[in-house]
This record gives sequence, structure tokens and C-alpha cells, in this order.
Amino acid sequence: MTPILAGRNIVKCYAPGREAEVLKGISLDVYQGEILAIVGPSGVGKSTLLNVLGLLDEPNAGEVRYGGREARFRGCDLTALPESKQGWIRNRLFGFVFQMYHLLPDLNVVENVALPLLMRAGPRAWFHGRAAIRRRAADLLEQVGIEARAHARPRELSGGEKQRAAIARALIAQPEIVFCDEPTGNLDTATSARIVALLWRLNKNHGTTLVIVTHDRDLAHRADRRLYMVDGKFVKEERPAAVP
Ligand SMILES: Nc1ncnc2c1ncn2[C@@H]1O[C@H](COP(=O)(O)OP(=O)(O)OP(=O)(O)O)[C@@H](O)[C@H]1O
Ligand SMILES: [Mg+2]
Repeated sequence: MTPILAGRNIVKCYAPGREAEVLKGISLDVYQGEILAIVGPSGVGKSTLLNVLGLLDEPNAGEVRYGGREARFRGCDLTALPESKQGWIRNRLFGFVFQMYHLLPDLNVVENVALPLLMRAGPRAWFHGRAAIRRRAADLLEQVGIEARAHARPRELSGGEKQRAAIARALIAQPEIVFCDEPTGNLDTATSARIVALLWRLNKNHGTTLVIVTHDRDLAHRADRRLYMVDGKFVKEERPAAVP
């Protein structure tokens, strides 16, 4: 099976020459439709790796080969594409749930969630089609359980509410791959279970590939596969035992 993403020998150093490499020639395959968990101690480079795979940060060396639904990019090293194409891929094919949320402070919750679709549709959407996009955003807010906070600004939300708004924003554009950095990091058990159910439903119903960085052992153990990262490299892979 061709991977939907194949990271090859990725090296990342934030201050070349002055600091040690964070990613030390790391390689991994992400398969279409799988739920992959990446686990490891704090500071080993998990978020850095997600940023490189998701084209949010450039590696110093290595490649991210693509094998997904968008035929014109198949076989390409995405990190070598011009920024305009990378932006298109981030908007159309990728969804992100960041560890630090990155909600825009001047937009309310429903506007933050709708933003990826509004950006895609261009300025006309601010007049035409905007209502439909906002309805979709409102529907997602309901699914993550914060519909009552739709008109609040991010600064008025709790950590868990921001996290849920970030999840709704990541899902609105029906991405092919969702990168989740600690998606349940700030949530209580019940809310966390609800978010996990939503992500898993997305995977089962739409075949969305999930790459999840998590310290949550239960969440990691529900994934199809786990990669353990230590000091900028993977040291172990775990798959569930084959069902007899
Ligand atoms: N923008 C940056 N500039 C300089 N150093 C950075 C930057 N981002 C991360 N680092 C450093 O790179 C290393 C890896 O950071 P990263 O955020 O990838 O770790 P992590 O595995 O996600 O940790 P955690 O589990 O705590 O989120 C850390 O030593 C961190 O201090
Ligand atoms: Mg991190």
C-alpha cells in the first residue's frame, strides 16, 4: 500500500550550528485511513514533526512524499513545492488541531471555525454562501458541544472550549489528513471521550487519516498504530495484535 504521506530522513534544527538537531533524520509512513498515534516524552520533537509533515515549518533536510487523493501532487516531495501550492494543500487537504489552539482573537468562535472555508471560497463568500458556511460551522460547534459559546471571543473561553473550537475548525473543510497535537490535553474525561468519538467517527465514516500526538495512554492505545519517539527518532512501533 502506498503511504498517503511518507516522511524520509527529516532533519530539523531551529538554530543550525548553535543547537542540536530536534529531528535527527526521522522517517515514517502514514497510511490512508489509519489512526496513527505518535507518543514520547516532552521535548522530543513531536510537535516539530507534525509541523514539518503538515507543511507549517520547513525541514533542514529530508522529504515528505505525498500519495493521497490529489493526483497532481502524488509522488511529489511536498516540502519542495512553492509556498502557494503548500498553502493550497494546507487549506484543502490538511486539518490541524494545534497544541496552542491558534484561534484568531478578533473573530468570535463561529467565525474562527468557518475561516478555512471562507478563505477557500474567497472574498465573494463573505457575501454569497456565507450563511451556508456559518450553518456548517454552527453544526460542528454542536458536535463538539460548545454551540452556546458560538459568539464568544477566544479570550472568553476556557482551555477546553478553545480546544474544541480548534477541533471544529480543523474538521470544517473535510480534510484528507487531520494532524492533532494533544487534542485532549485540556479536556475532562467526559469531554475528551466526546472528542475522541467525533474524531473516530470522522475516520470511520469519511476515511479521514488521523495523525495524533498524545500523552494520553488510553487515546494512544485506541489508535491503529503507535510510534514511540525518543530524542528526535522513532525507537519502537506497536500495532494491535492481529485478531485470530
Ligand atoms: N520555534 C522554536 N524555536 C526554537 N526551539 C524550539 C522551537 N520549537 C520547539 N523548540 C525546541 O525543540 C524541541 C522539541 O520541541 P517540540 O515542541 O517539538 O517537542 P514536543 O515533543 O512536542 O514536546 P511536548 O510533549 O512538551 O509538546 C524542544 O527542545 C523545544 O524547546
Ligand atoms: Mg508538543
